[in-house]
Amino acid sequence: MKNIVVLVSGGGTNLQALIDAEKRGEIKSGKITCVISSKNGAYAIERAKTAGIPSRIVVRKDYSSADSYTDALLDVLKEEKADLIVLAGFMIILGEKLIKAYENRIVNVHPSLIPAFCGEGFYGLRVHKYALARGVKVSGATVHFVNEIADGGPIIMQMPVAVLDDDTPETLQKRIMEQAEWKILPKVTELFCADKIKVENGKAYILE
Ligand code: GAR
Repeated sequence: MKNIVVLVSGGGTNLQALIDAEKRGEIKSGKITCVISSKNGAYAIERAKTAGIPSRIVVRKDYSSADSYTDALLDVLKEEKADLIVLAGFMIILGEKLIKAYENRIVNVHPSLIPAFCGEGFYGLRVHKYALARGVKVSGATVHFVNEIADGGPIIMQMPVAVLDDDTPETLQKRIMEQAEWKILPKVTELFCADKIKVENGKAYILE
């Protein structure tokens, strides 16, 4: 059984999808052992509490530098004996030291089909605003390993979602969450915990 630590900053619907998948037995090779929030008062913390999962809050502005914040997160992850770190709406770019320490053991869900609408400055609703402004007919979600390039790590799984003519950023966000994010994030989490993902030459592959 692998220890899954989920990092959140907001509403935590992706965390909820993970909790529900574990309850249904779809995540069976790992267990969500801790939720870490970068924000006080994040609703994701309530979701963890309701599910009986220990949670911790590590707020960026409590630390004087990005490096000391990274060190604090690293300490918590070590204490929690994290095998897999899942970024589920975590809105802070992780420090290089942490990324190196957990190479190919951190996954992130991003609300577009990478390499579209990704990188620094593309997060949350902003991603969908850009997609609508560009007039794309298809968007979707991506789960990828985290490396030192923002949204640039090996892609593990993607799911396309149709964009409708009358979409607003909010309606598109909701459809992408429901039809893509909440499905592929739990799937990848189980595949990782079952040792069914390998990375070779910077690309990720799912093993049969
Ligand atoms: C999700 O749409 C997630 O893909 C996105 O933030 C939202 C968090 O929602 N993440 C990013 O944009 C990361 N670059 P949630 O807190 O309800 O899971």
